[in-house]
Amino acid sequence: MKFTVQRTLIERVNAQAVGVFIFEEKELFRRQTAALREMIGPAASPLESGFFTGKPQQVLPLYPADHRVLILVGAGKQSQCTAEKIRRSAALAAKTARSLRASTLALLEPDPEILSSSPLGQDGRLWETTGAAIAEGVILGLYRFDRYITKHADAEPDITRVQIVTPSASRLRLLKRGLEYGRVVSESTCLARDLANAPANEITPASLARKAAEVGRANRIRVRILTEQKIRALGMGGLIGVSQGSARPPRFVVMEMNRNSRRSTVVLVGKGVTFDSGGISIKPSAGMAEMKMDMSGAAAVIGTFAAAAKLKLPCRLVGLIPCTENLPSGTALKPGDILRHINGKTSEVDNTDAEGRLILADALGYADRYKPDLVIDLATLTGACVVALGHAAAGMLGNDEPTMAQLREAGDRTYERVWQLPMFEEYEKLIKSDVADVKNVGGRWAGAITGAMFLKNFIGTYKWVHLDIAGTAMLEEATDYTAKGGSGFGVRLLIDFLNHLKKTPG
Ligand code: BES
Ligand code: ZN
Ligand code: ZN
Repeated sequence: MKFTVQRTLIERVNAQAVGVFIFEEKELFRRQTAALREMIGPAASPLESGFFTGKPQQVLPLYPADHRVLILVGAGKQSQCTAEKIRRSAALAAKTARSLRASTLALLEPDPEILSSSPLGQDGRLWETTGAAIAEGVILGLYRFDRYITKHADAEPDITRVQIVTPSASRLRLLKRGLEYGRVVSESTCLARDLANAPANEITPASLARKAAEVGRANRIRVRILTEQKIRALGMGGLIGVSQGSARPPRFVVMEMNRNSRRSTVVLVGKGVTFDSGGISIKPSAGMAEMKMDMSGAAAVIGTFAAAAKLKLPCRLVGLIPCTENLPSGTALKPGDILRHINGKTSEVDNTDAEGRLILADALGYADRYKPDLVIDLATLTGACVVALGHAAAGMLGNDEPTMAQLREAGDRTYERVWQLPMFEEYEKLIKSDVADVKNVGGRWAGAITGAMFLKNFIGTYKWVHLDIAGTAMLEEATDYTAKGGSGFGVRLLIDFLNHLKKTPG
């Protein structure tokens, strides 16, 4: 899809579909629709019915005599206009255009006067943020995972060209800059979605590692893939233990960017379980297919690297991805087994379905060799986190309040929101083991928290944040710009966070 910003007037726009943001306040609504009436005359008469009022999610296609379709989308109230509202209405315009089989789409910039006195206008980078939000809404909204569906003649064709239209040269420049950022983070999010949505017979530990390497080659990121022998030699007992039930050997991926930068070092760790059957503690068959997405943390890390490289972020970034399947077999890990991890600590496996923490333990231990300022891990770790927060926010736990506050702000800006859960010492005893240093499950209560309490045993001396993305990485129902399935959660959040990171080390 070609995506540009054009300086022209609405009358001159060359596109089959033209999207217009319409705001809801009576006075603004009247002003905006009067201008349209003037332009398209009787074709605007459906407005008279009063059904379309500019509320969010409302859409009204109009058919002027010039063979284009004018798609009015409700942008909601000016007084509540945020980047998120723009993302959502841009997605609606794009999806409507596609369903009408338009292959080219123009989106008029939202009215500058309206926008500048809205909450979004307080942003300071109003037009960059707007350009980014439009790109995000369109690209993420149009995403579909149809690679495995044999094409039918009645399938909605792709939109091949999108343009944002402004009459102003100065806004053109800012919209362009924003568009470029939005395009990169959205395409990288779609990459993460593709990885998560692909079935587990395509994405295996070895092929996931290869995908990371491919992304590395395309973006000049150094990628190393450690194979079983090396993983064993490093003492990664957790990753070896979880993988031993599968015929496919594990991989451990190391991605590195800006290796010689003197800026702060951030390590991103992603859970890469390419299929989680539960192992010997096997899951019920209903819904098990969803566990092909148990590598969504890994997908987010790979997507973040792709975006960070394209945007030339200055910090030194390291990505660590333990890749394995979790399957039952005659050689599988068993309840009661004791594993020794890379940092020498042991864990008692009480439930083989709590496998994510076992492999993350080794990755968090391995991270210490980079002397990082900060380590963020992303993992579809616990069903308990989904029970607690649903699909609207990821669980966030860690040892550094300022970093978590920054992540929370990045989450509010990107709408990939995170919500902190506590790590009170009282939770420690829930994962006490009689036979090892720590046990991999904590019983019925506070499951998302005991998962993080387990991980805490394996971190080094760095600042650390754990994001439990079990609920946000995969959606059971589509939202405005996220189809059902993998959401690519984490890419936009982390890039925004890294972008706002202060420039000096420490
Ligand atoms: N991959 C699952 C967690 C999960 C659940 C992700 C639902 C996405 C949606 C994880 O490995 C797991 O099975 N966790 C167990 C932990 C329990 C045994 C302590 C769980 O949540 O039930
Ligand atoms: Zn599991
Ligand atoms: Zn899992």
